[in-house]
Amino acid sequence: MSKMTIVVLLSVLLFSACGSSKSVDLLSPNGEIAFNLEVNENGQAFYKLQTNKNQIFSDSRLGMELHEDSLFTDGLRIINVVRNEKNENWKPVWGPNETIPEKYNELIVSLKNHENNDLKLYVRLFDDGLGFRYEIPQQNGIDSINITKELTEFNFAQNGTAWSIPANFDSYEMLYRTTQLSEVPDANTPITVKMESGYYVSIHEANLTNYAGMTLKNTGSTNFQANLVPWPDGVKVKAKGSLQSPWRTVMLCKNAADLVESNLIQNLNEACAIPDTKWIQPMKYVGIWWGMHLGVETWTPGPIHGATTDNMKKYIDFAADNNIQAVLAEGWNTGWENWGKPRAFDQVTPYPDFDFDEIVSYAKSKGVELIGHHETGGDYIFYEESMDKAFSKLHDNGIRVVKTGYAGPIPNGQFHHGQKMVQHYRKVVETAAKYHLMVDAHEPIKATGISRTYPNMMTREGARGMEWNGWSEGNPPEHHVILPFTRCLGGPIDYTPGTFDILYKNRKNYIKWNSNDKGNSRVNTTLAKQLALWVCLYSPLQMASDMISNYEDQPAFQFFVNLPADFEESKVLAAEIGDVYAVARRKASNWYIGAITDENAREIDLDLGFLDADKKYVATIYSDTENTSLNENPTEIKIFKKAVDSKTKLHVKMQNSGGQAIEIREAEK
Ligand code: NOJ
Ligand code: CA
Repeated sequence: MSKMTIVVLLSVLLFSACGSSKSVDLLSPNGEIAFNLEVNENGQAFYKLQTNKNQIFSDSRLGMELHEDSLFTDGLRIINVVRNEKNENWKPVWGPNETIPEKYNELIVSLKNHENNDLKLYVRLFDDGLGFRYEIPQQNGIDSINITKELTEFNFAQNGTAWSIPANFDSYEMLYRTTQLSEVPDANTPITVKMESGYYVSIHEANLTNYAGMTLKNTGSTNFQANLVPWPDGVKVKAKGSLQSPWRTVMLCKNAADLVESNLIQNLNEACAIPDTKWIQPMKYVGIWWGMHLGVETWTPGPIHGATTDNMKKYIDFAADNNIQAVLAEGWNTGWENWGKPRAFDQVTPYPDFDFDEIVSYAKSKGVELIGHHETGGDYIFYEESMDKAFSKLHDNGIRVVKTGYAGPIPNGQFHHGQKMVQHYRKVVETAAKYHLMVDAHEPIKATGISRTYPNMMTREGARGMEWNGWSEGNPPEHHVILPFTRCLGGPIDYTPGTFDILYKNRKNYIKWNSNDKGNSRVNTTLAKQLALWVCLYSPLQMASDMISNYEDQPAFQFFVNLPADFEESKVLAAEIGDVYAVARRKASNWYIGAITDENAREIDLDLGFLDADKKYVATIYSDTENTSLNENPTEIKIFKKAVDSKTKLHVKMQNSGGQAIEIREAEK
């Protein structure tokens, strides 16, 4: 008899003997994290989370309020507990690592309320954190489910430093606040906390499917409660028959590097649902994009229209010459003149100066892929009507990637992050899979690991990305050293690093088009940091964001030329949230390192102990110089080679908001 069967049998025996239990415990596989579920005398359910040294969450409420007959708030009793465990490795189609360990202990707790309605709680404890989800199983007496409130709480046992963005229901494009946890009024997830005890905790959700996005609300001191994004009528989640919530996730690590290396979110998603994944391939890309954000080109036709046949050909040639697989064109299709109006964008008709067929055949002749672009302005209703037509146009022309956009309000009082839009974003991914299309979503729903199930969901924005540098005061230096520990814990980010003309010295005759533009726009990093961001901010569709004219005669661009689009192994080398981040990624026997700092200049030593001890290597180093300075001289960079091996401690010197990018290859014998 297996160990698992014995555990299951024991719990069944235990429960048939006592009839009902009030408390259940679960330990992580390494025994260091303990979860406890308790139902009090009023039938209210609470959980606690602790390590063998510290309390993480004190009593935190569980349950949900339904606005029909049945309530899963009070009067609950535990009627059965099943225990399982899993210890397996799986292989993603792409990702920063080629193998992912999945090891957890599980509890499945069946509860009943006063009226004998059933609620199930699934709890999984990993060595790096917790996931739990609710299920309302199909049952007599519950037909339509309308959740008016999820009671889930995360009551931190101590204060700490928190990195959070506000709980906006329409946008994640905000700057992170670094505050005491107790001072966070509300937040979107992931929210990351360094507790006073030193533990790093990040709260998020996994497998957000047919449910509303979760935000958090401070209910006093360091206590937080789930606050789901509502429908226009105030109901949070609507379902027929049965329902499963997303997993509520709590990463729990001893240091910030372990947060980044955690696979908790992906592990709480279902296995791949696409049988043939050969058409799904990571790519690097450039595109007709930055010129519009800078105000020197337009999405609409006219004298400075960006997406013209000639311009596209230049981008295709550039991609072909520089080991870049794909080219994006925005403003290729009619409708941009109606941006903001309903049914604005026609996703199939090109503008007259964009010869679609000619561009498709030119790209093909050069061995370069095209990335289709579908801005919707938020009009998901019209997009759903057009989707099949629009996707087959791409597919029929051999196009494998579509970038989507929802820049504008969602019709009929819906929010970007509510259940309706969660359904829509998923519909796009599933329909795209049918047409063998990979998706890069802007103004998306947050990343919750669904790429495990739908690996054509490659990357998404969902953060203040590069575009903000074009027409606002820009993203501050600390932004890049917060993202890996917050937004990026959910999954890949289409931040689009790689702007080389940092102070916009080459920008001539620009036309202000965005109301956030106060005339002080720039990129708030050095050039070396831009290179490093290509490694630090992982994306299986990785863009070099600048206009290609700004890459001419730029030796530093060689780093992007050589960079692979995907990796086999990744190791975090330095990590302190909001201060510093360095990561090394391997493809075959080559390694690529990105190191970045906040507004402070910094020196760090990178231990190259991960290199093969029997081999000699050469590092090509792209570094800030003594004279590089964020304000006056951000683009100065030095590129040099250095012999390294597994014993090397590489001394990395970064200027304010600087960085370093390193390519390590085996030395020729
Ligand atoms: C916002 C997106 O983030 C950006 O990448 C795109 O260029 C514009 N919307 C227009 O679609
Ligand atoms: Ca955006």
